[in-house]
Amino acid sequence: MVIFVTSNKHKFEEISLMFNHRGIPITWKRMKYEELQADDTRTVSLDSCMRLREVIRKPFFLEDTGLYIESLKGFPGPYSSYVAGTIGNRGILDLLAHGRNRSAAFITVISYFDGREIHQFEGSVKGAISYEPAGSGGFGYDPIFMPEGTSKTLAQMSDEEKNAVSHRGMAVSKLISFILAGNA
Ligand code: IMP
Repeated sequence: MVIFVTSNKHKFEEISLMFNHRGIPITWKRMKYEELQADDTRTVSLDSCMRLREVIRKPFFLEDTGLYIESLKGFPGPYSSYVAGTIGNRGILDLLAHGRNRSAAFITVISYFDGREIHQFEGSVKGAISYEPAGSGGFGYDPIFMPEGTSKTLAQMSDEEKNAVSHRGMAVSKLISFILAGNA
């Protein structure tokens, strides 16, 4: 049994779909926790995991995700949560007005505490910020992010489709392979 710690029900839905497909039991520990303010997603994820293992004291994982926009020098990156709650998707679209390069990437870093040590698994997807929000699925920046090679935003995809191309889907695949190789 693996515990996934998050306060975000969409993250749990996406991740549990992948665990269920592979027949691996997963439970949701719905919990909000403080995040370190640091320059990269890997450090934020690791710091949260190190603090929570002192409280949870059994195997669990968590993840941290950031949206990195090339022409904004990686902004909002580790500040993605704050920016989503302040200027939001409309603010991002405004920042990219006047013909700015719209290339962007999502990065997810999972930190998995196996009961003894912490292992990290990273996933990323390159794409572009759309000109207008589109779609009603997903959450957060999904309506304005179009993965490379598609003409849809993540919010126009089902959870299965999103998992097949997404940052989170890639990171979770790596975690699942690790667990199935006997590391849980
Ligand atoms: P956190 O990983 O929960 O700190 O997420 C940072 C910010 O990015 C939050 O505002 C989330 O809503 C947003 N976010 C995280 N994952 C995704 C995703 O898969 N799609 C779109 N936005 C996301």
